Amino acid sequence: MEVIVAKTAGFCFGVKRAVDKVYEQIEHAGKPIYTYGPIIHNEEVVKDFEEKGVRVIESEEELKALRDGIVIIRSHGVGKHVYDILEENGIEIVDATCPFVKKIHKIVQEQNQAGRRLIIIGNESHPEVQGIKGWGNDNTLVVETPDQVDNLPFSEGEKLCIVSQTTFNYKKFQDLVEKFSKTRYDILVLNTICNATQERQVEARRIASEVDAMIVVGGKTSSNTQKLYEICQKECKNTYYIQTLGDLDPECISSVRSVGITAGASTPNHIIEEVHTNVRIKF
Ligand code: F3S
Repeated sequence: MEVIVAKTAGFCFGVKRAVDKVYEQIEHAGKPIYTYGPIIHNEEVVKDFEEKGVRVIESEEELKALRDGIVIIRSHGVGKHVYDILEENGIEIVDATCPFVKKIHKIVQEQNQAGRRLIIIGNESHPEVQGIKGWGNDNTLVVETPDQVDNLPFSEGEKLCIVSQTTFNYKKFQDLVEKFSKTRYDILVLNTICNATQERQVEARRIASEVDAMIVVGGKTSSNTQKLYEICQKECKNTYYIQTLGDLDPECISSVRSVGITAGASTPNHIIEEVHTNVRIKF
């Protein structure tokens, strides 16, 4: 059987950087370490951190109650008010916001000041989008579907600045931008989709179109893994979404001649390797 592993599978630059920062703090901090939300969408990595004494803060209330320690901000980033809370309470901040997300925060702040209304193309409930929104103002809007563009309550000539969630599907982004360009708004479009996502999606699509079965490895709550799965499924009916090797039903790939493997941005390398080795050895 031929097995093709995507070169872009696994941790992207931003996630690797965030995970490394947590390990650095475990080595050197000497005081309680917290992450605001799980550092990445991978239960195994989060569990490993917990065993090393890193606590996950789940709510803003918990964050406000802190009086000591270090808070690590994850690669998704957070709104400005979170920095304000931590600074007011004298809590040390280790900022692991991905620089590409930081760039969006800066754009949002600057374009707001320049008088443009911010539109974030993305999923409103995603923490990264919440964080980006938190650098805008009450007029900042999140748009995810073409219907929403039709129903915007703006008047002709309204000045808009459109940015995107870094992990948003490129094709859907283009479709929405095209929809916006047919309106009479004055739009400034900044494509802030991260290349790591695009590259991973393009490679996954190509491999899925060439193989008999495709395996997508990643956490169930990871939106970029879910998107990879959607893309692969369109190209290859036999696409399987697994979190670890244990989820893979060997029956599914027992009679195929070629298998492709890709993985979301928060999937550790050793999990990808384990899946790869087993598929190669057993079939
Ligand atoms: Fe950053 Fe791109 Fe990863 S925005 S966190 S390098 S997917």
